Amino acid sequence: MTIVRTVADLREMVGAWRKAGLRVALVPTMGALHQGHLSLIEAAKAHADRVVASIFVNPKQFGVNEDLSRYPRQEARDAELLKSAGCDLLFAPTVEEMYPAGFATSVSVAGVSEGLCGAARPGHFDGVALIVTKLLNMVRPDVAIFGEKDYQQLQVIRRFAEDLNIGVEILGAPIVREADGLAMSSRNAYLSAEERGIAGALPRVLGRVAEQLEGGAEMAAALAQGTRDLLAAGFKQVDYLEVRDARTLEPLQALDREARLFVAARVGTTRLIDNLPVRPR
Ligand code: PAF
Repeated sequence: MTIVRTVADLREMVGAWRKAGLRVALVPTMGALHQGHLSLIEAAKAHADRVVASIFVNPKQFGVNEDLSRYPRQEARDAELLKSAGCDLLFAPTVEEMYPAGFATSVSVAGVSEGLCGAARPGHFDGVALIVTKLLNMVRPDVAIFGEKDYQQLQVIRRFAEDLNIGVEILGAPIVREADGLAMSSRNAYLSAEERGIAGALPRVLGRVAEQLEGGAEMAAALAQGTRDLLAAGFKQVDYLEVRDARTLEPLQALDREARLFVAARVGTTRLIDNLPVRPR
């Protein structure tokens, strides 16, 4: 696996592959890799001849009071993991390479960016849309793969890729979970042993609410009970527990179409998110 840090080197290598008629996949990450990321590399290998991963902790998607400075950085370990997963090229640029002096452009996606994490993290999806647009323009892959754990992010990326005619296939890959069901996330590393115990309630409650909704339970009551259950399990705050249209993310009052159940809850200082598909019977 080759590691490059400049856009020029990245373009040279990917350009040679493209000239040779090879299909290229991109897996953008912020590093601190876990099994969930490695499943994205696996999916990428199934869809392309060459796999490019990027590691860049993108300052523009962190709010002022968020965890940019403490976000886990472990590039040497990540590079080993990517290499053994069969990644061909790692792009790990500096902040200056991505945002040189004079940088002035933003990318903003209406609709799907609003509500859910968009409400609690103002500007977050603009930062994601900007960096992913840049990465897609730099690599010009045939396909790019993102985890469904960040489902709203995935829908934001699908929206702007279509709106801006980027000409890339955007694929979502299923959430990878720990043995107790907790969705894998780089932020799980922040949890103390006690908080990690509490965190296991998130997928349990989410699964229970999804089952109730699919069984025809009244939505507002099922969601209110789910919120109470999370607080009783030890979560400090539930930012949202909501059902939305699976594609447009429009809020739903009843389960009358293909939908998704979303949760964000805080344990200690860590904010965890998860989601599940819910379908009317
Ligand atoms: O999901 C992530 O890790 C990030 O939001 C992404 C897509 C790599 C953009 O920085």
